[in-house]
Amino acid sequence: MSQIADEIKNQINKRRTFAIISHPDAGKTTLTEKFLLYGGAINLAGSVKGKATARHAVSDWMEIEKERGISVTSSVLQFNYGGYCINILDTPGHQDFSEDTYRTLMAADSAVMVIDASKGVEAQTRKLFKVCTMRHIPIFTFINKMDREAMDTFELLDDIENELGIATCPVNWPIGSGKEFKGVYDRNTRKVELFSDTHKGTTQGEVRKISIEDDEIGQWVTDAQLAQLREEIELQDGAGAKFDQALVSKGELSPVFFGSALTNFGVETFLKHFLSMTTSPLPRKSDKGAVDPMEEKDFSAFVFKIQANMNKAHRDRIAFMRICSGEFEAGMDVFHIQGGKKVRLSQPQQMMASERKMIDKAYGGDIIGVFDPGIFSIGDTLTTSPKRFTYEGIPTFAPEHFARVRQVDTMKRKQFIKGINQIAQEGAIQIFQEFNTGMEEIIVGVVGVLQFDVLKYRLENEYNVDIRLDNLPYEYIRWIENTDIDLDRLTGTSGMKKVKDLKGRPLLLFVNDWSIRMTVDRNKGLELSEFGRS
Ligand code: G4P
Repeated sequence: MSQIADEIKNQINKRRTFAIISHPDAGKTTLTEKFLLYGGAINLAGSVKGKATARHAVSDWMEIEKERGISVTSSVLQFNYGGYCINILDTPGHQDFSEDTYRTLMAADSAVMVIDASKGVEAQTRKLFKVCTMRHIPIFTFINKMDREAMDTFELLDDIENELGIATCPVNWPIGSGKEFKGVYDRNTRKVELFSDTHKGTTQGEVRKISIEDDEIGQWVTDAQLAQLREEIELQDGAGAKFDQALVSKGELSPVFFGSALTNFGVETFLKHFLSMTTSPLPRKSDKGAVDPMEEKDFSAFVFKIQANMNKAHRDRIAFMRICSGEFEAGMDVFHIQGGKKVRLSQPQQMMASERKMIDKAYGGDIIGVFDPGIFSIGDTLTTSPKRFTYEGIPTFAPEHFARVRQVDTMKRKQFIKGINQIAQEGAIQIFQEFNTGMEEIIVGVVGVLQFDVLKYRLENEYNVDIRLDNLPYEYIRWIENTDIDLDRLTGTSGMKKVKDLKGRPLLLFVNDWSIRMTVDRNKGLELSEFGRS
């Protein structure tokens, strides 16, 4: 019998922790706002963005994101709805997103993918999606902006299946789009949820549902639309994948919903279904096997994000961790596995709606930010368990932009090295050195080019070091999986460069896909990976 107190079990059981992903402008922020509206966490939709900007004002280097009006950092929002305690991990949606975006997905138990109905799957969704599939977490699709002209429904579903390689199962089906949008048909209840945008989403609005067999439906939906709906549903019933919770849970089948976040249509329907289909906190892999929050009574967590310099005067950092098991209490002492000693987790914070607040307690599934005096690294494990185990590390994601970096004033080498190493430790950038050339030059790799600006800004402001960045033509990085390859003899193309990371592990940079293929061809048995092990 488990020794976990019922109260803790109940708390963990009602947690739903998910990441929300989308291409910029698909409507992620709007949808999140509407979720919060249902949770009663905000009264008026529209406040997420405003408050987020105010919050960011505490941090200096985030001036960059204010100036550009984009969000570099990801935040976590918690609210209650329908007996669930929901943690939404928001991911920066701009093209210039960082590795943090990927890491955030490592802390989630499922993902909600928002797609613009007029655009289908876009580049960034594809990238983020790869990380979800790597983890086999459930993925739910919300096709947004049905109040605008949309792509054909079958085309949209095909797009998801082809681009992302996952089967889809529409839970509801749209009737028209744009000016002709009439609502969605629930394939299970056979009722039409009628579209209304009277409230423009500032209140919860009323929901009207009418059976497709009811004569009244004719008042709302034209005969032609009804005929088309019947035909489409018949086609879908015949050829489409059936709903299968087991496949959803394995991330092999994505339930699809249609709606319009802006007009608050289809949002609550989505939320309700999603909450019933998604999962409570999942077991996490560790070096002693999977740690199940329903079996492990002790507190355990791993760090997935470090945010620097919330307060420039103190150069402090906040380490964000995902609690995997047990109960957290403010000020508790826990064992930091990688540091090999006990630490007190002080000033624990959590986001409620968009405000940061101090918390007393948190449970498995929750995300908390704690004060970090500079001892934590991404992927570190903390636990009160006497058994001491380490959670599986967070992979290093492939940067796509590289630059050679030097300090302008050669006298400042020490500060430069210290600064760049600290920033790399936080995970904002990755640093590499040329392999076997004896050159002292540092190559920096980033996932989004904005990180170059962040690096420059932070080195100037926090470490008083001016740097020069010279862009390099490489776009791809691959980790070498083989341990028995003689790197000196490895031959590539002129578009390939050998480098090593901070731990001395060899990597290859490439200018293009062709160069990767040629290098693999020329070196028998060479195994390359897109993710680095931590
Ligand atoms: P993001 O976080 O994914 O980047 O998207 P965001 O919610 O900021 O939405 C991007 C734009 O799309 C916003 O308009 C938003 O109002 C609009 N939008 C979101 N959902 C819907 C929808 O269901 N239907 C329609 N028609 N539009 C939608 P904006 O003009 O760029 O910004 P704003 O000035 O309205 O904030």
